[in-house]
Amino acid sequence: MNRRVARAGLAAAVSALLVGCGGGDDAQPPQASLTIVREDPSGAPIAGLDAPWRDRFFVGDALFDQTNGEAAGLGPLFIRSSCGACHADDARGPGFVEKFPSRPGVELPYGSSRRPFVTAGAKQPVEAPADVPTTVRLPPSVFGRGYMEAVDEAEILRVEAEQARRTDGIHGRAHRLAYASELSADPQFSTLTKGAPTIGRFGLKARQATLDDFTADAYQGDMGLTSPLRPVELKNPDGLTDDDKPGVDLPMETISDVAAYMRLLAIPRRAAPDPRAVTLFAESDCATCHVPTLRTRADWPVPQQAGIDAPIYTDLLLHDMGDGLADGVPDVAAGPRDWRTAPLMGLRHQRALLHDGRAKTVEEAILAHDSEGSEARGAVQKFRALGDADRALLLSFVSSL
Ligand code: HEC
Ligand code: HEC
Repeated sequence: MNRRVARAGLAAAVSALLVGCGGGDDAQPPQASLTIVREDPSGAPIAGLDAPWRDRFFVGDALFDQTNGEAAGLGPLFIRSSCGACHADDARGPGFVEKFPSRPGVELPYGSSRRPFVTAGAKQPVEAPADVPTTVRLPPSVFGRGYMEAVDEAEILRVEAEQARRTDGIHGRAHRLAYASELSADPQFSTLTKGAPTIGRFGLKARQATLDDFTADAYQGDMGLTSPLRPVELKNPDGLTDDDKPGVDLPMETISDVAAYMRLLAIPRRAAPDPRAVTLFAESDCATCHVPTLRTRADWPVPQQAGIDAPIYTDLLLHDMGDGLADGVPDVAAGPRDWRTAPLMGLRHQRALLHDGRAKTVEEAILAHDSEGSEARGAVQKFRALGDADRALLLSFVSSL
C-alpha cells in the first residue's frame, strides 16, 4: 500500500474527530464527554473595549478568515490558504499540520513540516523522507491568547523557580529564546529589545514569544505569504524564491491587525466553579502545571488585560511528557518529548484533545499524561485514586472550562 493512501486515511480519521457532532457517541457517560456550548460563541471580543481596539479587532477578524490566492502571494508551497481553515471559530481544525522527525543520517533540507500543496510554478511538495513517520499537530485554539502574551516574564520565572524546588519530578522550564529581530509589528507591544533573550509562549512547544511573530511565521510557513517580519520564502525542493506576487507579499499592517484580533479575543465565558472541584484540581496536581491564573504586566497596553490574574490554566512552561506523548520533533530549545502545558481555556469548544487529537474525552487526555518519563505520572496516580464521585466532579469541571 502506498504512503499517499495511508496519509489520506489518517487525514480522514483526524477530520472525523474534528467535525464529528455531539450526540452520535452514546457510549460515553455524560460527565466524561466534552460539553459543547453553542450559545457561547468562541469568537467574541473582550467586553468593554474602546472603539479603536474594537475596530482593529474586526479588521483582523476579516483578514483571519480571508482565503488568500496566488494574486496575494500564496505559495510556492502551502498547507492551507487561510488562518480560519485551521482555526475555524478560533478553535481547532479542521486543517492541521503534519510533522516528521529527523533521524541520524537523514537530512531535512526543507524543515520538519509537510507542505503538501504547490502553486505559482512549484512542482514538488515537501514530504517526509521515505520511512520517516509523520505525526499530526492539531492547531491550538487562538482565543484568550492576548492574556497569555500579557503575562509578566517575572511571573513565568517565579513559577519555574517554584517547580524547581519540588521533589515529585514536576520541573517545568521556560523556553528561553534568543531573538535577533524585532518581535512586534506594533510599536505599542514592542516591549522586547532587539537581540535580548526572551521567553517563548506560543506554539505547542512555546517556540514564539509574541502574537505578531507567530502571525508572520504562520503566514510564511502555512501559506507562503511573506511579510516584513518574514521577508523570505521558505526553502523548497524547486529552489523557488518568489511566487506570482513579486517581492514581499503582505504589509506590516496585516500582521499587526491579525495579531491584534487574536490579542483581543475574549476567553470563552465559564460558570463559577464548584469549590470542591477546584480543590480536587489542586490536590491532584493538575493546578501545578495548569496554573489557574498568572499575573499580567501592569503596563500592558490593553487595559482589560493589564495587572490582572489572567485565568489561562497554564504555566507557559515546557514539560517532559514522556514517551507516550513524544512526537520526536524538537522545536528550537524544546526537546522531542517536551510540550507546553496546554492552556485549558475554552476546552468545551474543542472536539479532540492533546496535541494530535488522540483523546476524545478529558479522562482519556488525563490518562495519556502517564507514560515512561512523564513529569505528570504522579498527577495521574492521584487522579486514579479518586473515588467515583470526586473523579466525576473533576472531569465535569475540566470539561466546562
Ligand atoms: C495548516 C494549518 C494552519 C494554518 C493555515 C494556520 N495555523 Fe495557526 N497553528 C496551526 C498549528 C498546527 C499550530 C501549532 C503549531 C506548533 O506548535 O507546531 C498553530 C498555532 C497557532 C498559534 C499559537 C497558539 C498557542 O496556543 O500557542 C497562533 C497564535 C496561530 N496558530 C495563529 C495563526 C494565524 C494568525 C494564522 C494565519 C496567518 C494561522 N495560525 C494559520 C495550524 C495552522
Ligand atoms: C507536568 C505537568 C502537567 C500536569 C501535572 C498535568 N498536565 Fe495536563 N497537560 C500538560 C501538557 C504539557 C499537556 C499537553 C500535552 C499534549 O498536547 O500532548 C496537557 C494537556 C492536557 C489536556 C488536553 C488539553 C487540550 O487542549 O488538548 C487536558 C484536558 C489536561 N491536560 C488535563 C489535566 C488534568 C485534569 C490534570 C490533573 C489530573 C493534568 N492535566 C495534569 C501538562 C500537565
